[in-house]
Amino acid sequence: MDTETIYLIVLAIVTCWLISYWVLDNHWFYRALICVIHTLLFKKKINILDETHYYGICWTTDIDIWVFHMNNTKYFRELDFARTDFLVRTRIFQHVRKKKGLVVVGSTYIRYRRFIKVFQIFKISTRIVYWDKNSIYFEHRFITVKDQFVCAIAYVKQRITNFDVEEMMKQFVDKNVVMNENGNTVVDKLPIPAEIQKMIDLDEESSAKLKSENLPQVVLQTVETT
Ligand SMILES: *[C@@H]1O[C@H](CO)[C@@H](O)[C@H](O)[C@H]1NC(C)=O
Repeated sequence: MDTETIYLIVLAIVTCWLISYWVLDNHWFYRALICVIHTLLFKKKINILDETHYYGICWTTDIDIWVFHMNNTKYFRELDFARTDFLVRTRIFQHVRKKKGLVVVGSTYIRYRRFIKVFQIFKISTRIVYWDKNSIYFEHRFITVKDQFVCAIAYVKQRITNFDVEEMMKQFVDKNVVMNENGNTVVDKLPIPAEIQKMIDLDEESSAKLKSENLPQVVLQTVETT
């Protein structure tokens, strides 16, 4: 290969890379990829009812210029990674991919309690608090490592399309053999937390309202059980 060809190849690569920066949120994709690979290679497999901790830091690119705290969009961005980590470690992610299901967020409720300041390290705790036919419900807490304060709390409804989630979770609970001291499976299904019930009610109310406005409707595929 002559120098001119090499020069052209390098130029083409750099151009593609620059264009990708313009059309994609590259850092998000890199991190998602690193998150999945790191989790697969180095993190222990866990039970679906375990709690995970995912660490993060409020960086200079995450702040609201005039108050120097983490901006509200960064919380949602971090939640994606915390949940990806959780879903990969529990093998739910692999299971859903294999069966050609899709994992999407249905709704999120978040409550901010205290600022996370620039350079502050925090961890996100993630656990499943409930599930129904179409969705898994997560609770996440943003906890500052220094003083263990819960700076924000979020509930996320994770829709899984083309799937009977209840059926899937039953398999997972059985497979993971969640036992109590008498040797029985502890949960077939978790009792619904009051906050999640309110979230479901709110979703339904909002959905009914939009439907009554006679707008064009979007229908996500749902699983019919017989
Ligand atoms: C907020 O944080 C996100 C994620 O780091 C970043 O993309 C965005 O530019 C930041 N600033 C504002 C003003 O939203």
